[in-house]
Amino acid sequence: MNPLIAPSVLASDFGNLQAEVEMLNKSQADWLHIDIMDGRFVPNISFGFPVLEAIQRHAKKPLDVHLMIEQPEHYIEQFRAAGAENITVHYEACRHLHRTIQQIKQTGAKAGVALNPHTAVQLLEDSIADLDVVIIMSVNPGFGGQKFIENTYRRVEQLKELIVARGSKALIEIDGGVNQQNAPKLLAAGADVLVAGSFVFTASDPLQTIADLKHVIVH
Ligand code: DX5
Ligand code: ZN
Repeated sequence: MNPLIAPSVLASDFGNLQAEVEMLNKSQADWLHIDIMDGRFVPNISFGFPVLEAIQRHAKKPLDVHLMIEQPEHYIEQFRAAGAENITVHYEACRHLHRTIQQIKQTGAKAGVALNPHTAVQLLEDSIADLDVVIIMSVNPGFGGQKFIENTYRRVEQLKELIVARGSKALIEIDGGVNQQNAPKLLAAGADVLVAGSFVFTASDPLQTIADLKHVIVH
């Protein structure tokens, strides 16, 4: 099956945000991945509600919102109101993860949890049945354009096993350093959704690059 493709708007040209979103509307992208960074959970600040609302005004595809923020429980309803279809919080940022997952679901959004590269996949054992999405970070969160961490394949396989064992419907989403080279191996390991930022937006033909990722051949 073809993966879902979620280009990361973080790597787009913010000076031409409307045109970038319209390009993604025309593309084979399935979701628009939106990276929210607070300068506390991660050492970088991206953008907040006004920009998200501007994206939503033009987007024709679901917004996949990745919250790299501390205490995300304070902002869930506001992100939903700003147009988030999927809301993903970091495992490492949630003291009461179960409560936060339920809070996301109560808004009607799909609920996701993201794991940093050092966080054991098995820690999701008691949450996986409640989740719609798990983001496996394949870089340390905070910046686009970083190098893919090879240990990710192993983690994807472990997560796939956990999902099957628990009868979960969660999709496995890979975020960071995804490109045409690692995509086939990620899909073979069990990935369902590929986020791609710099690989798409630095390409001379982003539309074709999205199509290529969508139709990547798994060996
Ligand atoms: C990293 C972000 C990613 C980033 C991906 O903290 O969560 O979504 O935008 O960008 P690339 O594909 O350039 O690694
Ligand atoms: Zn992200």
